[in-house]
Amino acid sequence: MATMKKKAAVIGYGGMGAGFHVKNILSSDVVTLAGIYDIDPAKRAKAAADGVHVYETREELLADPEIELVTIATPNDVHEEIALAAFEAGKNVISEKPVTLSLESLERMIAGAKKAGKVFSVHQNRRFDVDAVAMKQIADSGDIGEVMNIESRIHGSRGIPSDWRGIKAYGGGMLYDWGIHLIDQACMILGYDVKSVQCRFDHITNKEVDDGFGLTIEYESGKRAYLEVGTYNFIPMPRFYMRATKGSAIITDWRVPAHVVKCKAWHESDVIPVVNGSGLTKTMAPRDSITVDEYDVPRPVTDVHNYYRNFVRAIDGLEEQMVTHDQMRCVLKIIMTAFESVEKDSAKIYW
Ligand SMILES: NC(=O)c1ccc[n+]([C@@H]2O[C@H](COP(=O)([O-])OP(=O)(O)OC[C@H]3O[C@@H](n4cnc5c(N)ncnc54)[C@H](O)[C@@H]3O)[C@@H](O)[C@H]2O)c1
Repeated sequence: MATMKKKAAVIGYGGMGAGFHVKNILSSDVVTLAGIYDIDPAKRAKAAADGVHVYETREELLADPEIELVTIATPNDVHEEIALAAFEAGKNVISEKPVTLSLESLERMIAGAKKAGKVFSVHQNRRFDVDAVAMKQIADSGDIGEVMNIESRIHGSRGIPSDWRGIKAYGGGMLYDWGIHLIDQACMILGYDVKSVQCRFDHITNKEVDDGFGLTIEYESGKRAYLEVGTYNFIPMPRFYMRATKGSAIITDWRVPAHVVKCKAWHESDVIPVVNGSGLTKTMAPRDSITVDEYDVPRPVTDVHNYYRNFVRAIDGLEEQMVTHDQMRCVLKIIMTAFESVEKDSAKIYW
């Protein structure tokens, strides 16, 4: 017998609330939409015009006993306050990313969830991004040996959006915005045993918050991730680059498959030096098909609906939540350490 869908409500009917969560809930096989609340009457009117049930106040929404799950899709500075109110009302909570703006705030949210006995997680939907999943599959397969480092970049050329993302008090800036996704994906591939963090910010289109950054994470395992977001990159660099002990992988653009070059024979006795620029080199002589294999990796099939499926199964006690509290702590701590690094003139900060 099919299980009953759980009733979900969305707080914040903006880009992500209306454009993603409401749409996904309406097409979900595990949740159904009870309605939305937005602090802005114009957004509530828009929701009503879209045929979505509107709660006129947050209290009215939280008082609806049929709602089991509340998704928070508001600017970052109010995630905590809304989550705590939802736990008080006995709701399970999905918070948009970044879950909140400090580790102390995250601990208050976790304590609120525990006290209420409710499930609480953060929407790290980009764990389902085909490019990140492809990189993880290549790393986990061991086909090119042990992965030593990844470089993950998101480059655009439109500057930082002119909304709350440009304002510090709302938790603006690209580190919180795209950075948290890239950090979460890097840890998904390389692990959570962070050793050090080093970061620098760009301020080309915005002086108040970072409109781009370069972040290095070193792991106790010796692995390393370099993560970069740019908003004035008119020529984007490859989305992912990975080096492993027996090969390299690249995803030049999120619309194309991963390409792998795998070493067949490491030592060569008959390398012919090549003329390179105004000199001669053996070290940098290109490889040929005798010593390397090259192939594209078929793009993995992913389904972001699995995020809500997992969350509902976690409510029912059937699965551990996909994005755990410890992972939330680690990813947010990397962000906080990155801010500290920037304050200390991009110093390397050990954990
Ligand atoms: N996971 C992702 O892929 C992804 C993508 C974009 C945004 N986000 C996250 O989603 C959240 C919302 O971002 P957005 O782009 O939709 O912003 P947005 O500005 O488009 O929408 C935010 C909405 O929240 C409403 N709001 C503000 N304060 C409120 C409050 N106290 N109570 C109720 N409603 C309130 C606003 O009126 C607005 O309609 C942010 O945390 C952002 O980081 C996640």
